Amino acid sequence: MTTEAKLIDGKAYAAGLRERVAGAVAQLKADHNLQPGLAVVLVGEDPASQVYVRNKHKQTLEAGMNSFEHRLDASTSGDDVLALVEQLNNDPAVHGILVQLPLPDHIDSEKVINTISPAKDVDGFHVINAGRLATGQDALVACTPVGCVLLAKDAMGDLNGANAVVVGRSNIVGKPVAQLLLQENCTVTIAHSRTKDLPGVCRGADLLIAAVGRPEMIKGDWVKPGACVIDVGINRIEREDGKTRLVGDVDFGSAKQVAGSITPVPGGVGPMTIACLLRSTVIAACAQAGVATPDL
Ligand code: GUN
Repeated sequence: MTTEAKLIDGKAYAAGLRERVAGAVAQLKADHNLQPGLAVVLVGEDPASQVYVRNKHKQTLEAGMNSFEHRLDASTSGDDVLALVEQLNNDPAVHGILVQLPLPDHIDSEKVINTISPAKDVDGFHVINAGRLATGQDALVACTPVGCVLLAKDAMGDLNGANAVVVGRSNIVGKPVAQLLLQENCTVTIAHSRTKDLPGVCRGADLLIAAVGRPEMIKGDWVKPGACVIDVGINRIEREDGKTRLVGDVDFGSAKQVAGSITPVPGGVGPMTIACLLRSTVIAACAQAGVATPDL
């Protein structure tokens, strides 16, 4: 007899984390007159980015923080975006800065990201934070990877010695999540679309993190029985009736028959990203104000 995997409820975990963040914010105001502030910069009108930015704004305010939104026209020059970032770097009410990606093609994203003050880089994309993470120093860490590890620890308990396979090698998810799993004492394999015998590599995983951006690529027979599967993919695919539906990088229907625990899409990793962003903003604000970071 096979039993279906336990569903990992990212929506509920994220709601709990946001409540803890709101509690910490209230405490910081009461004890230190410190109100964390997050600035978000959106250039252009990418529809998915607009949804993200709207949700970030709403959830930042709900957590009791200041939210500063900067919406710029798609034709804004790279120099003007850099000037805004510098202005936010120098604004003491702003503790976290996030420039929504993708930026329009005429803007050098790397230059913009690396102009953000590393202390305010709540996305953890600045080369200084990536390097600090890789060398085990205190760093602001990308939000989706942090969310993945929080969910994996919640589902599996101790990750010590677990075989973790990360499918995907992006700077935003694959590489930082691998670094975090190393810190948790996992044995980490970073696999990708060119990996030889990818199904076989995946079958060795006690913890399988899928972040390749290919709809339903990872099938149930790639999953080790009882493994924890964390699906980072958010792919919009067209159904036969012309409507779209969201699917992950994992073929959920077959994988849930084999895995021990698995994140659904939507409702798994997705809701964790903004909750972790709020958490990082509190951490950044505490570091800038020189006060102890609350346990989140
Ligand atoms: N676009 C999609 N996800 C993200 C994210 O986590 N950070 C930024 N800056 N842009 C994004």
